[in-house]
Amino acid sequence: NSHLIEKPTEEHDAVIATFPLQPFIERPFTFTHPFRLYKGVWISELLLRGILEMQQRFKSRPTDIYLASSPKSGTTWLKAMIFATLTRTSYPLSQHPLHTHNPHQCVPHMERKFATGQSQIMEVIPSPRVMSTHMPYSLLSEFITDSDCRIVYVWRDPKDVLVSLWFFVQKIMGGADKVATFDQFYDLFCQGVHSFGPIWNHVLGYWEESKRRPEKVLFLKYEHILQDPVKHAKQLAHFMGCPYTEAEENDGVVEQIVELCSIKTLKDLDVNKGGNRATSDGPISHAHYFRKGKAGDWKSHMTQEMAERLNAIIGEKFKGSGLQI
Ligand code: A3P
Repeated sequence: NSHLIEKPTEEHDAVIATFPLQPFIERPFTFTHPFRLYKGVWISELLLRGILEMQQRFKSRPTDIYLASSPKSGTTWLKAMIFATLTRTSYPLSQHPLHTHNPHQCVPHMERKFATGQSQIMEVIPSPRVMSTHMPYSLLSEFITDSDCRIVYVWRDPKDVLVSLWFFVQKIMGGADKVATFDQFYDLFCQGVHSFGPIWNHVLGYWEESKRRPEKVLFLKYEHILQDPVKHAKQLAHFMGCPYTEAEENDGVVEQIVELCSIKTLKDLDVNKGGNRATSDGPISHAHYFRKGKAGDWKSHMTQEMAERLNAIIGEKFKGSGLQI
């Protein structure tokens, strides 16, 4: 039954090798796989493999919910929030799976699963499925064949995304001396060379779509959620079609969900202090996904001049869109 055997990944690798390669820097600024430019987006060779696999085999369902984000924009938090919101009546909150599972184990990252031969997971999740992606809307829209699918998008001040990314790559590669300098990360980021960059296109794509179809695309900002998590938890539940009942609100369920998903709670759980996530980038410790969880940490790592230059680049791209950093 040779026709049933999965396509060898070499086939994708030959195609992937034809896409332009990232600029060369002596020390790494990616996780372990280099970036290639695919349809105007910088994507690691590994995740590109997943995207090409998806093109052959992915089927969306009308009830699907996609969590989309640029890496380091609040994916882990939103995975927890979405998963907890949808499953809040399936378990007593004190015994919720988030106490024993990292949010990334609860919501699969589609292109990574497809890249690593684990795509069957997507077939067996009961509907409504929640899956995450780092693809910009221009790529994701190729996969969503049903206009009923919902998308939750989260973005964040790109300056904090850059700082968060720099720390994350250091943790994965084993220290600051193992990776490019912050100045190099900054210069590449300003050119849009980072995971799923440029970030301005990423944000604008979902922003425009959320204006066209607000009932299907929820556009959230990390800093706004931090300011009022309860309000956003309610908005999320309403958007996903499972609004909180009056009784739930009176019982403080919204606050309990927010508390369960807070960085303070999640960071202190054994599963997130000790556990590892096996990836083809090697094991990634669950702890790496939780650092400060604050707004404005860029102030400790960037000069005012650097901040202004990045703001100006993005401000120019956002011009006329109604979006502001
Ligand atoms: P910092 O490095 O600025 O602290 P992602 O989940 O997309 O990889 O983003 C990681 C960022 O989100 C990190 O930011 C991390 O600390 C923060 N984060 C993780 N879990 C969070 C939570 N429950 N609440 C708020 N922020 C969270």
